[in-house]
Amino acid sequence: MKRYFDGIVHRNKRIAPGVFDMTVAGEAVAARPGQFAMLYPGGDSRLLPRPISFCGADEKNGLYRFVYQAAGGGTTLLAALEPGRTIRALAPLGNGFPETRPGERAAIIGGGLGVPPLLWLTRSRAASGAEVSVFLGFRSDPILLREFAETGAGVSVSTDDGSMGFHGNAADMFENFADEPAFDTVYACGPKPLLARAAGIAEKIRAACYVSVEERMACGVGACYCCAVETRGETKYRKCCADGPVFDAKELVWGAGAVG
Ligand code: FES
Repeated sequence: MKRYFDGIVHRNKRIAPGVFDMTVAGEAVAARPGQFAMLYPGGDSRLLPRPISFCGADEKNGLYRFVYQAAGGGTTLLAALEPGRTIRALAPLGNGFPETRPGERAAIIGGGLGVPPLLWLTRSRAASGAEVSVFLGFRSDPILLREFAETGAGVSVSTDDGSMGFHGNAADMFENFADEPAFDTVYACGPKPLLARAAGIAEKIRAACYVSVEERMACGVGACYCCAVETRGETKYRKCCADGPVFDAKELVWGAGAVG
């Protein structure tokens, strides 16, 4: 159940240009892969909290990991927090990825800052005996590759500039790979065009597909309606923060030409 807690920044380290890896020591909250926390940068109450997905959690010891981009006022303040500083959090939020199925063959596709939340998903799927192949795309500076490899999953990397791995994005790379072997489930996190491509490829190979959608958020708890996502159901718009951020790709409206 979600609750507020004051955590202590345990580490907050730059791991790539503009990208920080923060561990917070706080109360035990039962989070799962795909969920997120609202983190209060502190100091300036005019700033809204920032929604940041969990990259990992050690719930026994109350340690939570977030990898985020310092791209605006709030996240720049987060990046400036030194170890030992207090940070207020509301967590866990959102629905998270569904439970794995026995013998699942999973493809996990991430692009850019959609990659960090997939590390925890990959770990948990690999630990539960699933056969996992991971496809990670970056502009030019890959992150977390060693940790993905340590999960035992097969890891493929692409870069937009071709400086490492496949030259192109993660969806292009996945499409090249997707005929054989077959996958039961595709999980994706990253920019919407990548999610749409992953959904389209999953449909072609008849795999289930769950996507973690990134939307602007203000409250994070379903109260302000600023994170609406268009869906095919009777309820045309659903809230990314409270009904997602993970959706069955079949439920979403992708827009003309987005899926291919
Ligand atoms: Fe307020 Fe989703 S962020 S309803």
